[in-house]
Amino acid sequence: MMNTNTPLTLALSKGRIFDETRPLLAAMGIELIDDPEHSRKLILDTNHSAIKVVVVRAADTPTYVQYGAADLGVVGKDVLLEHGGEGLYEPVDLGIARCRLMVAGFAQDAGMRSVPRPRIATKYVNVSRGYFAGRGVQAEIIKLYGSMELAPLVGLADYIVDVVDTGNTLRANGLVPIETIATISSRLIVNKAAMKMKHTGLRALVAEFAQMVASPYEAGPCQ
Ligand code: ATP
Ligand code: PRP
Repeated sequence: MMNTNTPLTLALSKGRIFDETRPLLAAMGIELIDDPEHSRKLILDTNHSAIKVVVVRAADTPTYVQYGAADLGVVGKDVLLEHGGEGLYEPVDLGIARCRLMVAGFAQDAGMRSVPRPRIATKYVNVSRGYFAGRGVQAEIIKLYGSMELAPLVGLADYIVDVVDTGNTLRANGLVPIETIATISSRLIVNKAAMKMKHTGLRALVAEFAQMVASPYEAGPCQ
């Protein structure tokens, strides 16, 4: 791990992103002092006095980094597409939390021609609007915050746009994957201004992340 005195703040969300980023950080010699799954603290110390971790909701990570409240963060490409990426660099594909952002629905509607003005339930409203407009489909987008798979079952929507990994959630609810909008993995994002102002420390940390992804690390995917 490089020796930096530049104060750096890394935004992470609890759950999958934190769980999959922690081995990367450990391989870089960065260990969290508090456990975010148990502590109620939102600013966590690491074994490097200059490096702090802030715990945010996954969908808020790009916002914290965009405004420089965090210098860098780890976020799913799905969330990044929805945010738009303003004020952010996306220097490293960390290759973690892989899934696909998909249109899903009932098998009998898989042709997507059977429903003339489909209703789409999703938390990815910007991505969905752009995707259906691009295909010339006049869609009504209904914003939800979770449990998207429920929407077609109760007649709220014809289709959903959500991330799919194993497909188990779709199957369990009698739905099928229909179209892939984007393949997703988590990205390291960096505040553009901080990249200039904190050039040395931030570049070194970004380079370490990139190196970790290029070479297998402990607890990482087996080759
Ligand atoms: P929050 O819990 O704050 O509402 P969230 O539920 O989107 O946010 P996670 O479920 O931890 O947070 O997902 C974080 C990221 O992991 C997503 O943005 C996506 O990129 C990826 N992801 C989500 N679900 C899966 C999955 N089932 N398999 C693999 N990756 C996933
Ligand atoms: C996500 C997403 C889907 C599910 C897809 O949910 O919103 O519901 O994962 O994964 P699958 O294709 O493997 O079933 P969430 O992160 O809330 O749930 P999870 O913890 O079960 O992945």
